[in-house]
Amino acid sequence: MKLLDIYAKMTEDIQHIERRLDESVRTEEAELNAASLHLLKAGGKRIRPVFVLLAGRFGTYDLDRLSHVAVALELIHMATLVHDDVIDDAATRRGQPTVKAKWDERIAMYTGDYILGKALAVAAQLERPDIHRILSKAMVQMVIGEMEQFRLFYRLDQSVRDYLLRIRRKTALLIAVSCQLGALAAGASDRAAQRLYAFGYNAGMAFQIRDDILDLMGTEQQLGKPPGSDMRQGNVTLPVLYAIRDERVREAVRAATNAERPDEAALARAIELVRSSPGIEEADALSRRYIDKAIRALDELPDIPAKDDFEAIANFIAERAY
Ligand code: IPE
Ligand code: IPE
Ligand code: MG
Ligand code: MG
Repeated sequence: MKLLDIYAKMTEDIQHIERRLDESVRTEEAELNAASLHLLKAGGKRIRPVFVLLAGRFGTYDLDRLSHVAVALELIHMATLVHDDVIDDAATRRGQPTVKAKWDERIAMYTGDYILGKALAVAAQLERPDIHRILSKAMVQMVIGEMEQFRLFYRLDQSVRDYLLRIRRKTALLIAVSCQLGALAAGASDRAAQRLYAFGYNAGMAFQIRDDILDLMGTEQQLGKPPGSDMRQGNVTLPVLYAIRDERVREAVRAATNAERPDEAALARAIELVRSSPGIEEADALSRRYIDKAIRALDELPDIPAKDDFEAIANFIAERAY
């Protein structure tokens, strides 16, 4: 199923979130305004806000309350993207030039900080210290995950466990928290919030594994950014970890990532060898296992339409090409 088909039933509520997002970043400071709106208007899947809304269906659905959580989460996500594109020296994001590319690094750093500040302001409107605590913890974990990734750049001796631990922090926790906080903001039971967290965590793991497969297999048009950037940066992802069990592939990846300056021919060869290795399918199988686990986490929740939507999005994640 396409994401847009799943979203079709909730168009009005998503539009409400879009308006809130727009209002929350607008400012009279012209450049911050332009740079924030540039990223916002470039689109994105909005998976975190959608998870908040769907999770809210398991309690008392109050769009106004839920939208604070949804907007805060999307803004936190956006702030990390603006900074990530500086760190990754990325030229495109969501099919558009990055803030860093269209303006410069300094403006991108300020824009990320600004968006994060706005996220806090929106979250603070909810007088719920428990929600604030969960959000700030997730933000801290994301940074630790990014640091771990950086520390293990170019390291071919890292384990699958190392990889899983860092994507847990870097990606899965924020998605888990999106589901959990939607439930908590709607006053759902602790048990429901906990099951939704488990759903989000497993779906989030699959989401990042899929992202890492796509970076090797996708086209620039699908991804909205050039493929191969992980290998270029020295970020050793799951398909690569599996593929380098073959000595020939390991040598090629080492040659591509050891160079002082990235050697285009060596990079292309390493990417090609990983692409045609069983590593892709093995990574895909693990991502599928996380999706199955995510769907099983929904088992004991009441059979309401939101449950089917969660399941449909999980299946979308397993197959997504963008
Ligand atoms: C990109 O997240 C960064 C990752 C965690 C893989 P998304 O794939 O959710 O980005 P947008 O919001 O749709 O652009
Ligand atoms: C995105 O990570 C930022 C976070 C998850 C914090 P990546 O660098 O892996 O994602 P893309 O590929 O740029 O979207
Ligand atoms: Mg990046
Ligand atoms: Mg990155």
